[in-house]
Amino acid sequence: MSNYKDNDGGKRGLDALSSLCKRRGFIFPSSEIYGGINGFWDYGPMGAELKRNIRDAWWRFMVQDREDVVGLDATIIMHPRVWQASGHASGFADPMVDCKDCKKRYRADQLCEEQGAKLVQKDGGWELPEGVKCLQCGSANLTEPRSFNLMFKTHVGPVEDESSATYLRPETAQAIFTQFLNIYATSRRSVPFGVAQSGKSFRNEINPRNYTFRSREFEQMELEFFIRPDEAVELIYGHVVTMADNPDLDGEPQQDWGWEVWHRYWVEQRLKWYRSIGLPSEALHLYWQKGDELAHYARACVDIEYEFPFGVQELEGIAARSDFDLSQHQKFSGKSMEVFDDHLKAAVSAMDEGAKQMFEQRTVSACILRGKSLDEAKAFCAGLFEGRYVPHVIEPSAGTDRLALAILCNAYDEETLTDSKGKPDVRTVMRLHPAIAPIKAAVLPLVKNRPELYAKAREIYKLLRKEWNCFWDESGAIGRRYRRQDEVGTPFCVTVDFETLDDDTVTVRRRDSMEQERVQVSSLVSWIGAAVRT
Ligand code: GAP
Repeated sequence: MSNYKDNDGGKRGLDALSSLCKRRGFIFPSSEIYGGINGFWDYGPMGAELKRNIRDAWWRFMVQDREDVVGLDATIIMHPRVWQASGHASGFADPMVDCKDCKKRYRADQLCEEQGAKLVQKDGGWELPEGVKCLQCGSANLTEPRSFNLMFKTHVGPVEDESSATYLRPETAQAIFTQFLNIYATSRRSVPFGVAQSGKSFRNEINPRNYTFRSREFEQMELEFFIRPDEAVELIYGHVVTMADNPDLDGEPQQDWGWEVWHRYWVEQRLKWYRSIGLPSEALHLYWQKGDELAHYARACVDIEYEFPFGVQELEGIAARSDFDLSQHQKFSGKSMEVFDDHLKAAVSAMDEGAKQMFEQRTVSACILRGKSLDEAKAFCAGLFEGRYVPHVIEPSAGTDRLALAILCNAYDEETLTDSKGKPDVRTVMRLHPAIAPIKAAVLPLVKNRPELYAKAREIYKLLRKEWNCFWDESGAIGRRYRRQDEVGTPFCVTVDFETLDDDTVTVRRRDSMEQERVQVSSLVSWIGAAVRT
């Protein structure tokens, strides 16, 4: 773990990190020559590679390494009805308050939290509790909290009126629901299966803060994993596996799992992935949302949190969202989102009328308890008896930029060494997992003025570049060159020296231990390759 955390709410640690990120080309303020723009960040040469590696690792783990997940790459701007159906147009809002004296603006819930208080929900709105003050000037003269929709509004086409208004997407998830029918029809997958997407999302956050943690433009990596409703599982298999049955979450997923097991399975999968790219288990925490924190349609939601220098904060939310999303789009679009399930149809055909009636009685009562009307509950049973249902969904939803920040925080280290004169010497090193490090290897010719040595080094550089992003550095003392690579997290430095010309070996220096070993040029690709895979 990094050793730069401190007691000032992480500010000093974050300052050291952001300064390195600027100096070494990971992250720059957007539009910096014009003074920057709050909540927007650009990724420089190192950051762009890092983010690409994170996205690729996520895609490989979530899509390509599995048989039951396919991908989507949808537009950022969608039909405005999408956001009415999803609830974002009316409900995707944060409470905002202003200080009437110094004009500082806050997100009301955060302002309360920072003073150990809780924002009060009242008559569909909010109220500040007694004693909450402006953090800037100390005044208690604050406006009432008012609702602020976080979606960025824009217009499609040349006329700027309400009929042309729409929004930049605030999450990538909705496109997966709106394209569900097309994907289902073309991907030759049956429920349970998932659809993954990564891409830009936009939220006009009231108070962007903590470096890139809460930005106004950011990327998400989201999976919508569609499952059978538990009632369909019960009809097909005669039982539903729950957590009480102690299922093996590490093995192959099973068809008789209920939603609760699928939800826990995805929590475990996601933790496994975070560990595989170098986040240590002890820095990852699970926060199970309590009953009153859950959205009305959600059955469970757990946040995977990371110990940032400024506190333990959410990296990813994993929600069991029932059939809410597809049902909403069914209602708003008038298109049926039901799937036909052969196994269900076959199972129901084998049931006698008595068993069906008992099932229906039980199911209707349970649905009503969960808030469905009698008609809805009966229609649900009728659908099941015909082999039809609207799939339920488990949604692991992660932020790419937020994860990049966690990875950078975790990697940053200042190590005190002793130099050749016995003096302390601080080495700044980014201990990035090799699989996501922007540069996998740097090739360094020991000297520039020996043509055969130089040519051999170029040859090795070209060989390695075919495999990975590599770096060529011929200037400065070798120790200085090593240190520059340490600061961008390059796991291996390959030095080509006089011995190389004699025996075709190079010196490979490991970033973390600084140990050096001789490796045959012919085995260099497999040697590095073994280390950079997750
Ligand atoms: N579709 C569900 C959804 O969007 P969310 O909890 O609002 O859920 C999911 O967002 C993830 O997206 C968060 O856990 C976080 O990693 C990332 N995220 C959300 N808002 C963000 C912001 N303003 N800046 C950076 N990342 C953000």
